[in-house]
Amino acid sequence: MGQTLTEKILDDHLVEGELETGEEIGIEIDQVLTQDTTGTLVWLQFEALGLDEVQTELAAQYCDHQTYQFDFKNTDDHRFLRSAAGTFGAYFSRPGNGICHNVHKENFAAPGKTLLGSDSHTPTPGGLGQLAIGSGGLDVAVAMGGGAYYIEMPEVVNVRLEGELPEWATAKDVILEMLRRLSVKGGVSKIFEYTGPGVESLSVPERTTITNMGTELGATSSIFPTDEKTEDYLARQGREDEYVELQPDEDAEYDDQLTIDLSDLEPLIAEPSMPDNVVPVSEVEGVDVDQVMIGSCTNGGYEDILPAAKMLEDRSIQPDTEMIVAPGSKKASEMLAREGWTAEMMAAGVNYSEATCGACIGIGHVPGSDSVSLRTFNRNFEGRSGIEDDNVYLCSPEVATAAAIKGEIVDPRNLAEELDDLEAPGFELPDQYEGAENDIITPDDPVDDDLVKGPNIGDVPLKDELDADLEGEALLKMEDNITTDHIIPATQDILMYRSNIPKLSEFTLSRVDDTFAQRALDSDGGFLVAGENYGQGSSREHAALCPMYLGIEGVLAQSFARIHKANLFNFGLLPLEIDEADYENIEQGDDIEVVDDVAEAVRSGQEEFTVRVNDDWELTATLDASEREREILADGGKLSHTKKQADSG
Ligand code: F3S
Repeated sequence: MGQTLTEKILDDHLVEGELETGEEIGIEIDQVLTQDTTGTLVWLQFEALGLDEVQTELAAQYCDHQTYQFDFKNTDDHRFLRSAAGTFGAYFSRPGNGICHNVHKENFAAPGKTLLGSDSHTPTPGGLGQLAIGSGGLDVAVAMGGGAYYIEMPEVVNVRLEGELPEWATAKDVILEMLRRLSVKGGVSKIFEYTGPGVESLSVPERTTITNMGTELGATSSIFPTDEKTEDYLARQGREDEYVELQPDEDAEYDDQLTIDLSDLEPLIAEPSMPDNVVPVSEVEGVDVDQVMIGSCTNGGYEDILPAAKMLEDRSIQPDTEMIVAPGSKKASEMLAREGWTAEMMAAGVNYSEATCGACIGIGHVPGSDSVSLRTFNRNFEGRSGIEDDNVYLCSPEVATAAAIKGEIVDPRNLAEELDDLEAPGFELPDQYEGAENDIITPDDPVDDDLVKGPNIGDVPLKDELDADLEGEALLKMEDNITTDHIIPATQDILMYRSNIPKLSEFTLSRVDDTFAQRALDSDGGFLVAGENYGQGSSREHAALCPMYLGIEGVLAQSFARIHKANLFNFGLLPLEIDEADYENIEQGDDIEVVDDVAEAVRSGQEEFTVRVNDDWELTATLDASEREREILADGGKLSHTKKQADSG
């Protein structure tokens, strides 16, 4: 039987297990990336593991999430990251240089290689045929030290693309259509492999918009085959020698298949406040728009901003609508400036920003109260923009720009009819991505020998081995789709404590219940209870580490998001699945006792656990974990587990 493209790359990197859906496999990692909000922990953990040099072909540290250095804590973090990259042998991308996925795509993404990154949108370079997966930082630290990355072999789903995009429909509409059909849970434990005649009509940056936002489907990764478009893109970046042809076998068998006819697509938009609330733009026309933002790792490339600039040429945005453009990389920014497009946009009234994640996580350009913001980003979870009652819509740069011109949501096709000189800008690549470079410091650049740790940078807390008895209060009961933004918000005022776990922990789940952290500390252990898809969103391991620090012992949820579940194992928290009826019956404040000898049961492979509630009734909960995950959990988390393994030789 032939192989899918995913299977071919995995096969090339397989160090343990077999490529059978649901089976745990260990794979060798060629490249790793990390960014500033997750990177400090990655390097602190790398140091705690006693490792002294990066073992992967390439490791890259980006500073992109918190580039506005509001106070010394951010600056100290960046200085620490520079010292860690230099000390251990990683590339270092300065603040202002751009978003990790954009800069990585432009400089390092390579077909056929594996990439592990401590950021949930790591799958972005799947658009160039790279198998890229997001994970917690501890997994990145271990992979960087030469350890395998373990994952359950996902289902491989074939997304067959047919036809070509009509005018005004874009790659963003392809992934919004996927979200409309499949929902934010539709990709869990899946890799989407795009094939079919429609692939060749899409350029690499269009493909990476699709693979980037596959994360919003909950997917493990998304990948395109390579072809002339890939070779051409690499050549324009001056990296043609890195091209490798990669196609699935003709008789490859997929676990599932769906078809999208690109020619049927129209401009789409995700309404507040979930990326899968997708409707045609024409259905929400007329809504007044206060703010428009173009940028992010989804649509922040030169090629994404150029259509907006063309639409704004010799025009002005509406006086009551603010428009911000934040390029994804310094290179994109510099190219647009050199070609005169930045001046054109500024003349139209655009507020031009540095290359940063920034507003995507509520750092800068926070929408006004009771206002509407249209963004080309990938997430619109409630409160992520920095204000609780936000109304953030997600759309393509073309739809966003049309709204800035009109002052309200408008289907750009209708705006084009109204203005009669507005033409569809199309999608263009520059002749060469040259003359502008991302300033990346190589591992060979000299650095002082010592790691530079400011006063806000502390050690990583460790957890003891799992106890035989697990008992405590259900400290918080939550609904479905709790995100890592709910658990540890990524806003500036909170995330600046990312290297200071005791302080950061004070904010744990504060967006759900601001008494939680103190109650957890006071109660000496306890549990979280949640509905479906607990922990969706970013790869932020603080979302497991901070509950661990507060003494949380386990989470009872109807289901878990993939990366977060891995993070729970990595920090020694017991993730138990419960059914809907039991979820309904548990109340916040109930006494929870896992009846079995937990440590023994976890190590021995026991799947069903009896949980007694209020000494009154019992439920059966399931632990779905591999042998390796059980060992990690029982040892008190991956750091303790890895150290223990190293100590025992
Ligand atoms: Fe940055 Fe937002 Fe992407 S935080 S990495 S631009 S999802």
